[in-house]
Amino acid sequence: MPASAKVLTSDAPRLGAQLQEEGYVYLPAIFEPSFLRALERECDEMAARYYRVENLDRHAVYLSDNTPTRISHAMMISAGPSPLPTVPLEGLKSVEHFLRFHDEVLGALLGADVPAWSRSMLNWQTYSSGSKPVTEHFDGEYLDYRKNEDGGFTLHEGLLPRLVLILTLSNENDGELQGTVLRDTRTGREVSPPSRSGDVLVFDNVRMRHRVPTLERPRRMAGLRSFDFRAVHFALDEASCRPGASYRRMPEGLVSEEVDAVAVHQQFLRERWPQVREAQRTEGALF
Ligand SMILES: [Fe+2]
Repeated sequence: MPASAKVLTSDAPRLGAQLQEEGYVYLPAIFEPSFLRALERECDEMAARYYRVENLDRHAVYLSDNTPTRISHAMMISAGPSPLPTVPLEGLKSVEHFLRFHDEVLGALLGADVPAWSRSMLNWQTYSSGSKPVTEHFDGEYLDYRKNEDGGFTLHEGLLPRLVLILTLSNENDGELQGTVLRDTRTGREVSPPSRSGDVLVFDNVRMRHRVPTLERPRRMAGLRSFDFRAVHFALDEASCRPGASYRRMPEGLVSEEVDAVAVHQQFLRERWPQVREAQRTEGALF
């Protein structure tokens, strides 16, 4: 039988303390190979089923990052009906189980039940030998992302999942750097927990930054992070803050836990998303 987070919830106080202390929790060998293979098959099935222009247009499915050495997919899912765009999970028992596991872990670590309507982004990535590195970042819905004069981009406003959960599906890399590298913004310390198949890594997405170095050998992962439950609002400066919410400083700007993430997302879909999608289409990025 695949793992249930129920076994972890009894350990929740210790894991919660570890998350507070270190900014992450590493859980070795949580899932069995048979479950990992089934989840991989269902992820491939989801890519075939849902990578359609209409799902990208309504923002339930996100652009695939396709390079010769790394392929990534991402889409929004939820356990129950959501007021925001999602893709259905009919016939996807392993994905449903993985989402339930994520929701239980998130609930145990944050000390609250995760509502069935809240959406999580499911992503999965395949890294080939000598994969292009993923530069350091935090995960989020980038609501207002502006081009600088020097050609770079600056995030002015976003919604950041509180925690990110990563499951290693397979990994042929060994040694020091096997997968995700975390940097603690409080201490500057970098850690790279093991990433063996079946391992789970949960980290604080506001405190920690993450990157993936060039991997010498193939690796596959799947991740989940909640965009609606306990997501925090990011503002570069006061101009992007929402009225009535209190913010605290973080390295890149300001964050608030008092903003209604669903309302902000709905407003984004109404007012900004159509232009963002139009720009994607103009650049020829259909998928
Ligand atoms: Fe990421």
